[in-house]
Amino acid sequence: MQFSKIGIVGCGQMGSGIAEVAAKAGLTVIAREINDELLSKGKGRIEKSLAKAVEKGKLSAEEKSTVMGRIKFTTGIGDLCGCDLVIEAATEDIKTKLGIFIELDKVCKPEAVLASNTSSLSITELAAGTSRPGKFLGMHFFNPVPVMKLVEVVRTVATDEQVIQAAKGFAEQVGKVPVLAKDGGGFIVNRLLVPYLFDAITVYQNGLASREDIDNGMKFGCGHPMGPLELNDFIGLDTMFYIGEILFEEFKEPRFAPPPLLKRMVQAGFLGKKTGRGFYDYRK
Ligand code: CAA
Repeated sequence: MQFSKIGIVGCGQMGSGIAEVAAKAGLTVIAREINDELLSKGKGRIEKSLAKAVEKGKLSAEEKSTVMGRIKFTTGIGDLCGCDLVIEAATEDIKTKLGIFIELDKVCKPEAVLASNTSSLSITELAAGTSRPGKFLGMHFFNPVPVMKLVEVVRTVATDEQVIQAAKGFAEQVGKVPVLAKDGGGFIVNRLLVPYLFDAITVYQNGLASREDIDNGMKFGCGHPMGPLELNDFIGLDTMFYIGEILFEEFKEPRFAPPPLLKRMVQAGFLGKKTGRGFYDYRK
């Protein structure tokens, strides 16, 4: 089993990154968004990322247009009918994702594999909404997709072994390192990362140290590329809040519960880098 035509549903930060790395690897990509405005934003994101690569001499201008030419942008879900693998990267909301998979199940060919890029929802629950749980799995990429090397390949009890092997092969083809996880809340990375990021918010809230010193502690003491408060901002405080709620619901362990300060910041509309304010001020 090999994938040559890839569908991407949702062309936000994650979806556009996945579309970019797949097209760079020579694959044909159909990227779908719900309206023209979001679609052109997604296209712009890929253009900008490739232009940066050209600027740095990593890609020629000619290669950039070849890569862009491999991506077809559409608002019609029916255009994904010929895809071998469709990766959903829509909003982290179970109803939205289930709705998408019900539609994909209808329009995609029976042998097509469906994958979700969810970071915390149950892959099994999403698969159960389709008629093809054997051809359904999680493929969790990391932000920024063109830079981060990891893909979590997530199997449910129903996923066919050959689908897992094909997904691992696809991840390697697009330059990533696949790791295999069972469908347990947060998979590998968020299961470990979320309590750490929440702890950083709690110690900041309790006045242990300044935000800069908390971040510098982990950057210079442990060699992390970003400190935990900066990373919360980078992922998005609303996303962190949703992930925490889902993991807390699953495990009922306090370490997964979103800290009160995080909740207040989300209520205030301070969602991190994307809105200009989070633990840091990005407006300048
Ligand atoms: N697209 C393409 N390339 C990008 C990029 C983007 N969005 N952002 C950065 N880069 C590239 C830069 O061009 C640069 O490339 P070169 O080294 O070839 O010049 C390289 O990445 C480093 O970037 P910068 O010099 O601009 O900045 P930096 O050294 O501070 O690195 C960073 C930026 C890569 C984001 C780094 O800070 C980092 O690794 N941070 C941690 C990110 C992380 O942990 N992500 C996972 C979040 S968890 C998640 O995604 C899952 C979830 O479910 C919540």
